[in-house]
Amino acid sequence: MTHPVPIDAAVPGDALILPDGGAFLVRPITPASKSLIVGAMRRLSPESIRRRFFAPRRELSDLELHRLTALDGWNQYALGACARGPDGNLEGVGVARFARLDEDRRTAEIAVTVVDAYQSRGIGSALLARLIAVATTRGIRRLQALSLPDNAPIQRLLRRFAPAARWRDEGDYLAMEFALAAEPVSMIALA
Ligand SMILES: CC(C)(COP(=O)(O)OP(=O)(O)OC[C@H]1O[C@@H](n2cnc3c(N)ncnc32)[C@H](O)[C@@H]1OP(=O)(O)O)[C@@H](O)C(=O)NCCC(=O)NCCS
Repeated sequence: MTHPVPIDAAVPGDALILPDGGAFLVRPITPASKSLIVGAMRRLSPESIRRRFFAPRRELSDLELHRLTALDGWNQYALGACARGPDGNLEGVGVARFARLDEDRRTAEIAVTVVDAYQSRGIGSALLARLIAVATTRGIRRLQALSLPDNAPIQRLLRRFAPAARWRDEGDYLAMEFALAAEPVSMIALA
């Protein structure tokens, strides 16, 4: 059960209201998001963790947490959705992120994760749509994603966004890539 998130100055962020009435806040991930990410990680099923990190694991290390939250906003960027948990405190619900490739500054790799209890409500799609909009404004022209071969949910989600995407079988995983529509602002300085 999702508790409505009060949209007020005390809790900054953009509202995400789902068709089912669920209310969430969406905001960029910063180092202040660490505790929400740690909490969300504890509520992810082992299967979702395997699908996201390509291996079983329990906790994120301090270094991983740092890398997932110390984002420069240009080369690496992430949006997190949060909701009021049963105790009234904010809890992390999902994250969508991109990281620009070193070898091709106009291409970024993306990853999306939604806590199991909140999956199949449209949050992953909503986060990815917002992430794509941000990536476009930063001069990113192509997105890549890696998926375990048996990860049907992310493959369906990505196919909805990019029906014409190219998919490559890389053995241990599938790699997909798709082009973004050009961003209306004409001059983008690439770092
Ligand atoms: C892949 C993942 C991010 C999808 O997130 P999600 O929030 O469940 O995604 P959505 O809700 O937008 O879409 C999932 C399904 O719910 C459906 N759905 C969305 N809103 C719905 C609604 N209101 N009512 C019913 N179904 C709905 C979608 O149509 C979709 O159906 P499909 O899988 O049959 O195509 C999530 O499953 C996840 O975190 N998996 C583990 C981590 C992972 O695999 N990450 C990918 C590695 S990059």
